[in-house]
Amino acid sequence: MNKDIKEILLSEEEIVKKVAEMGAQISKDYKGKDLLIVVILKGSVIFAADLLRKIDIPVNIDFIAVSSYGNGTKTSGVVKIIKDLGCSIEHKNVLIIEDILDSGKTLHHLMELLETRNPESIKICTLLNKPERREVEVPVCYSGFTIPDEFVVGYGLDFAENYRNLPYIGILKPEVYEN
Ligand code: IMP
Ligand code: MG
Repeated sequence: MNKDIKEILLSEEEIVKKVAEMGAQISKDYKGKDLLIVVILKGSVIFAADLLRKIDIPVNIDFIAVSSYGNGTKTSGVVKIIKDLGCSIEHKNVLIIEDILDSGKTLHHLMELLETRNPESIKICTLLNKPERREVEVPVCYSGFTIPDEFVVGYGLDFAENYRNLPYIGILKPEVYEN
């Protein structure tokens, strides 16, 4: 285990099993529809790569990068688009793939923005969900694991751009982010 990890919250095996279940459900729900998977960079990349291979219907993929000004410095929680989608989402069934739903601000603003582009439908799929931290209600269609209010890293999730490559999801030792 990585020396900065206090405890493994979700093992590789648990993640693999859950991702397969989510992929099967999505394949069932979107059968016969044009599905566009929108991956939010960077945290969702590893989850999306695994999830996509568990979806057995035709899909298109695109990427969007956002930065959230949450974290107390700006209460508005306005989301800035760092890299926009490369394709139009008009009349498409959009499924947003997110790593973790925390305050809800990022997804709330992203949904608002994408809805102005006239998609056929727009839904959210998140691997992790921290309901205790929610400030804005966001409709989640697919949610992998509900987790406690702890800062987690690994499987795409970072602290200061590190730990994304850990194959499990672990709770970071507080001394790492307090320093
Ligand atoms: P929200 O807008 O507060 O819902 O924030 C969602 C974003 O915050 C996620 O996409 C992550 O980048 C980040 N985030 C929230 N909680 C954690 C965590 O426990 N570990 C790593 N990143 C997190
Ligand atoms: Mg992030």
